[in-house]
Amino acid sequence: MPSTVLGNPRLQRGFPSRLRPTLARRKNMIEFARIHTQEQISNVVRLAREIWTDHYTAIIGREQVDYMLDKFQSERGIAAQLADGYEYYTVLHEGENVGYIAIVPDDNARTIMISKIYVRRSRRGHGFGRAMLEFAEDLCRKRHMTSLCLTVNKNNTQAIAWYMRMGFKNVGSVVQDIGTGFVMDDYRMEKSMGQQGAEGDTLGLRLPPQKRRDRTLAIVYNRGHEINNQYQREALDP
Ligand SMILES: CC(C)(COP(=O)(O)OP(=O)(O)OC[C@H]1O[C@@H](n2cnc3c(N)ncnc32)[C@H](O)[C@@H]1OP(=O)(O)O)[C@@H](O)C(=O)NCCC(=O)NCCS
Repeated sequence: MPSTVLGNPRLQRGFPSRLRPTLARRKNMIEFARIHTQEQISNVVRLAREIWTDHYTAIIGREQVDYMLDKFQSERGIAAQLADGYEYYTVLHEGENVGYIAIVPDDNARTIMISKIYVRRSRRGHGFGRAMLEFAEDLCRKRHMTSLCLTVNKNNTQAIAWYMRMGFKNVGSVVQDIGTGFVMDDYRMEKSMGQQGAEGDTLGLRLPPQKRRDRTLAIVYNRGHEINNQYQREALDP
């Protein structure tokens, strides 16, 4: 089973513990296991149900939580996403699943979308989220991507504050109809990996103007690197 163990080997060779930063010490014991098998998928389904029910019921209501779990975080939903290029990783610490992350690489746009990033409530605030983000950033650099992006519910204030602290910028609104009368009313956030998109570059998509207008998520870099969210502009000025 392919997996990645983070950590600095020097820190693993018996430095006195008082000299080791807490996060670095913890990182030596964090393992990212890429999800392939049915058993692993079932494990994520259980984790998602626990975390989403606990976290999102107050934000979007139980009905929408159940609908979204069934659509996106069921065995069937995850298997379809894996077939569609999603990568899921569970995060293991001392044998416990502390959370999971799912990413969607877009080679053309040179960006990695963080589709899911979840830490169990009892394990939050201990550096696991940061380690997961650093894992995604490492993947970004290794694959020569220029940015990370994600969408977050507008009322998920705790996560929005956390993303801002982690260096993400809010670049606009995204409203997606997910069926049965439910919508995802989100902000889109981005974090550059240090390389600036060129003028008129839709994060690497380089679509002709007409096609750009057709894409709800087309983000266009303008002169002075001001970011224009096409979706938001069309919503304001239909
Ligand atoms: C958001 C989440 C992934 C962060 O993971 P975490 O393990 O709790 O975060 P970390 O402990 O790695 O936090 C890293 C730093 O951010 C700080 N931090 C934690 N929560 C914060 C918040 N809400 N706002 C600002 N800073 C925050 C920590 O104190 C820590 O600071 P330090 O490195 O200086 O000590 C996690 O809280 C979570 O799963 N939340 C619920 C689900 C969710 O909303 N996921 C996002 C879906 S879009």
